[in-house]
Amino acid sequence: MEIEPLHDDFGARVHGVDLTGPLSPDLVEALHVAIDEHSVLLFPDQGMSDEAQLLLTEALGEPEESHTAYGRTGEVVYVGTIGNVIDAHTKHGNADPHTIALTGNNLWHSDSSFRRVPTYVSILHAYEVPAEGGATEFVSQRSAYARLTPEKQIEIDALHVLHDYVFSRTKVAPVDDNHAASLPPIEQKLVRTNPRHGHRNYYVGSHARSIIGWSGIDSRRLIDELNEFAVRPEYRWAQQWRPGDTVIWDNRCILHRGAGYDADRYRRYMRQTRVRGSGPTLEE
Ligand code: OGA
Ligand code: MN
Repeated sequence: MEIEPLHDDFGARVHGVDLTGPLSPDLVEALHVAIDEHSVLLFPDQGMSDEAQLLLTEALGEPEESHTAYGRTGEVVYVGTIGNVIDAHTKHGNADPHTIALTGNNLWHSDSSFRRVPTYVSILHAYEVPAEGGATEFVSQRSAYARLTPEKQIEIDALHVLHDYVFSRTKVAPVDDNHAASLPPIEQKLVRTNPRHGHRNYYVGSHARSIIGWSGIDSRRLIDELNEFAVRPEYRWAQQWRPGDTVIWDNRCILHRGAGYDADRYRRYMRQTRVRGSGPTLEE
């Protein structure tokens, strides 16, 4: 496994690994170690399929079902589509509700931070990419935490935060009633610690609604400040997708967002799976 860093804060391009081949225990352990160390891993030129992606997901832990499919219809689905492609000839345009709902992903977030057990890693594979736009941007809340003053770190270390999907996503589109009912707001730790190396990070993003026990105004001031500090342009790394790229990112410490693209002009077809976290953050 050959690892080439992508940004001072996080990220690595990985060569010499076939994610669709046999996943030996040594390889799986090396992937977990690389996730803990680099937070975002890019594997170019993967001959991926849904079957192989699900096997990879299962090798890394317990697959997390799509909350969207489950919330809306009760269906358990592990591999979800990101983008606007319906089939070889048809796609959703910019005005389609499906496309508009997915623009919620253009707000900085950590996948499933609003679930009792949030996501460990997401795995996103690109099949078709727009000729312009359509990047995914990442920042590290571990690096952001490390840049806080010691006084600020102490101030936030023991706080808890309410994360709420309906709070964040109704900013871009209505959330179906069944879906909203399936996702009550969830309390999470504000500061998380990586169990392997002990580095700490804060954990906010667009789903973070309020600080437990704080007023609305004080909550928003702190959450907005932490979000803005984490996502400063110089701390971002953007994945410019090429077909065949597989990216794995650590939602425990990374924020990401879609940069957007013109769905009227371009097709974008990506498949996403997620590995469930090890438990509720309050038990970490
Ligand atoms: C995701 C996501 C952003 C994008 O797949 O979880 O937020 O670039 N994607 O589509
Ligand atoms: Mn996401």
